Amino acid sequence: MSEVPAAGVTAQTFGQLPDGREVELYRLVNDNGMEMTVMSLGGTIVSLKTPDAEGNQADIVLGFDSLEDYLAPEYRKANPYFGALIGRYGNRIAGGQFEIDGQTWQVPQNDGNNSLHGGSRGFDQRLWEVSPVEEGSGVGVVLTLTSEDGDQGYPGQLEAEVRYTLTDDNALDIHYQATTTATTPVNLTQHSYFNLEGEGNGDILDHQLTLNADAFTPVDDSLIPTGEIRSVADTPFDFRQPTAIGARIDEDNQQLQRGQGYDHNFVLKREAGDDLVLAARVEAPDSGRVMEVYTTEPGIQFYSGNFLDGSLEGKAGQPYGHRSGLALETQHYPDSPNQADFPSTLLSPGETWLSHTRYRFSTR
Ligand code: BGC
Repeated sequence: MSEVPAAGVTAQTFGQLPDGREVELYRLVNDNGMEMTVMSLGGTIVSLKTPDAEGNQADIVLGFDSLEDYLAPEYRKANPYFGALIGRYGNRIAGGQFEIDGQTWQVPQNDGNNSLHGGSRGFDQRLWEVSPVEEGSGVGVVLTLTSEDGDQGYPGQLEAEVRYTLTDDNALDIHYQATTTATTPVNLTQHSYFNLEGEGNGDILDHQLTLNADAFTPVDDSLIPTGEIRSVADTPFDFRQPTAIGARIDEDNQQLQRGQGYDHNFVLKREAGDDLVLAARVEAPDSGRVMEVYTTEPGIQFYSGNFLDGSLEGKAGQPYGHRSGLALETQHYPDSPNQADFPSTLLSPGETWLSHTRYRFSTR
């Protein structure tokens, strides 16, 4: 029988950065024995253990056992952003450029011509301040980061705060907030890759996915939205009924070819005034694990792990092969700073940017 860990939050040293700064690892355990570890580097979720239909715990997120693996050149080069917090701007900005009140801003072009996930030194590579928080129901940590004025070319000093809570009903609640000293785009998100059969346990092609979206934002060949909001009807992007991820992924479809699979933003259905809406549901056929994603955001990026190629070895000692994990990143649409018809991502001084996402775990 496996030992049931005590509920609460504990901290230990995970390792040291080359410049000597310490990276901490926080371990959160809720009343049901659901367990998550988070490191201060990138606010990265390193592990997340949930029970299957028989009560067996498995770690369902991709990642590594040691800090060295996260710092290794092979990992930095592939940069799949396993489990990291993403900022200031999750997803892509065309040409790394945008205009605010007639002034042009240039941010790093770290993905071909485009800027991806906040630039070459995004929030995923920053050391966050972490402290445990008492929650009404559950256990939590709060992470804070100051992104200095001009950080990665972005205007204004941004104060970011992210709170992770493991609730007693087995949800991971993520509350984001940010303030700024000058108008700047903000699109924070979380970049965990899930495999509900357990990390390292094959690919996610037989996971059944449901997305609460009638439309998606088609992309050009550099994965920048064309501006069109396209209906999913009669396309492989229709996940309104539970469908295996692999059922249509290899169809002859220009959008699938451009993404090398699914790597697209879906436009979530939302009634005016809705706070958290159900965005996605994933069910794993063998383990019976179910994950539901709720969010206040207008969109969700569904990325089917197309760029994973088996060159990185995960916690279970298994290589992370093609499509061995999936990401469901709640966010505003990609390239919003250049798309006047998309919901705005601009945050101005005096405002507080707020976002809330819940990943809820259960079994069939
Ligand atoms: C993007 C992918 C990218 C991946 C890892 C995802 O959020 O949509 O295009 O390859 O992150 O960087």
